[in-house]
Amino acid sequence: MFDTVKFIVGGLSCYFREKHLILKHVFDDYCRMIAPKLKNLEGLMPTEIDFDIEWLRSITNLPILVKGVLTHEDARKAVEAGVAGVIVSNHGGRQLDFSPATVSVLEEVVHAVGGKVPVLFDGGVRRGTDIFKALALGAQAVLVGRPVVYGLAAMGQNGVRSVIEMLKNELELTMALSGCPTLKDITRSHVRTVNESFHSKL
Ligand SMILES: Cc1cc2nc3c(=O)[nH]c(=O)nc-3n(C[C@H](O)[C@H](O)[C@H](O)COP(=O)(O)O)c2cc1C
Repeated sequence: MFDTVKFIVGGLSCYFREKHLILKHVFDDYCRMIAPKLKNLEGLMPTEIDFDIEWLRSITNLPILVKGVLTHEDARKAVEAGVAGVIVSNHGGRQLDFSPATVSVLEEVVHAVGGKVPVLFDGGVRRGTDIFKALALGAQAVLVGRPVVYGLAAMGQNGVRSVIEMLKNELELTMALSGCPTLKDITRSHVRTVNESFHSKL
């Protein structure tokens, strides 16, 4: 399910449009491949989100989720534009050095969205405790990138299954040790952020 969504979402700010640009420039009049012309990276410049959502809606009936949200401003804009969900993500920290760790901005986005649409958490999920923390901070679900790719590379389909099972088992153990019989029992009070730990020591 997420693959389909991700494809659409991944393209929202640039890839979809970028793909159109590349396709336009990728072949010359003799059908020879040429490098795309990206003068000043104009294809990567941000565009108005309302316009993007409207355009996406005109080409698909699938739910549209915005991936790459890291601030309350963007979260509000996305909700106003009518998205079906927001994905807190820095795309695995692979694009821009010093972009914030997604866990550090999750709560800000959750508050801005105010329960109007689901907030999904993406980036750096490596253990069940990471899932637990994200859920406690208000995410409805988490997405996993590299761990499943590593599983695939190591053991193919079984490797991917193992990674998912491992995460699920670790989450269940964390829930049991934290006194949470169901996902709904995981609350904000189960975690303490760096700021809160500092204040509690004063
Ligand atoms: C090899 C690779 C390619 C990726 N390509 C894209 C992409 O085209 N579009 C996108 O939105 N995110 C892309 N991502 C980011 C993932 O969708 C996801 O946000 C990230 O991997 C999550 O972090 P994690 O790997 O720490 O779980 C890519 C990640 C990897 C590892």
